[in-house]
Amino acid sequence: MINISNISLGLILGSGVDLDENLISSKEILMEDNNGIHNKVVYTCYLNGSGLLVFKGRQHFYEGHSFQSLTSGITLASEMGVKNILITNAAGGLNGNFEEGDLMLINSHINFVDKINHKRTSFPYSKDLKNKFLNVSNKMKVKVHEGVYGYYPGPAYETCGEIRYQKKIGLDAAGMSTIPEVYAARELGINVIAVSVITNLLRENKPQQTSHDEVLLIANKASEKLNSVLPGFVSELN
Ligand code: HPA
Repeated sequence: MINISNISLGLILGSGVDLDENLISSKEILMEDNNGIHNKVVYTCYLNGSGLLVFKGRQHFYEGHSFQSLTSGITLASEMGVKNILITNAAGGLNGNFEEGDLMLINSHINFVDKINHKRTSFPYSKDLKNKFLNVSNKMKVKVHEGVYGYYPGPAYETCGEIRYQKKIGLDAAGMSTIPEVYAARELGINVIAVSVITNLLRENKPQQTSHDEVLLIANKASEKLNSVLPGFVSELN
């Protein structure tokens, strides 16, 4: 069993993103909830000698949840004394250099879901955690882009017109999560970074219908990249 004062990292696993079971030990489930679109599991485990608090599956704005409900995992992490959080998500790629399955570290974002009532911060992402993540990725030869994430309410994927607009305003990726958790983490004084898994490419002239199942499949495959960075990343914490 994990000593909860010993948790180095809170990890939110986005749609289809998963931890390699071979990397972890002493897994202990704290909560399980099968209501809603995504099954949700909260557990602690060890990875490379570090304690992790893991959230698999999350709630989304389009399911009708409040800011408090969308960020309840961050509140729990804070209550457990977690000081660092890595948030992951699945996102559509807008940047012409991105390929399916690529990772993108979120440098900044635009929030298109205006109903969030919270204190905004201009630079919520931890420079220190970003540098650590990029250094380990580099060492492990995992390509990581950096870019701007657009947070949309969903649940529909983009129309061709929306893709054209999103590209024009300079977004690199679009998705339906993460930003409430980023704000909540900052408000609670937790260091936070966020990584998007590019599960599909948004091309205005080549409409490519994606589906939730396809997003899950690609994110699952790309999890391998995240799993090769995580052991080195957690060993850099504390
Ligand atoms: N758009 C918005 N959210 C997403 C997408 C997308 O294309 N892919 C995965 N999440």
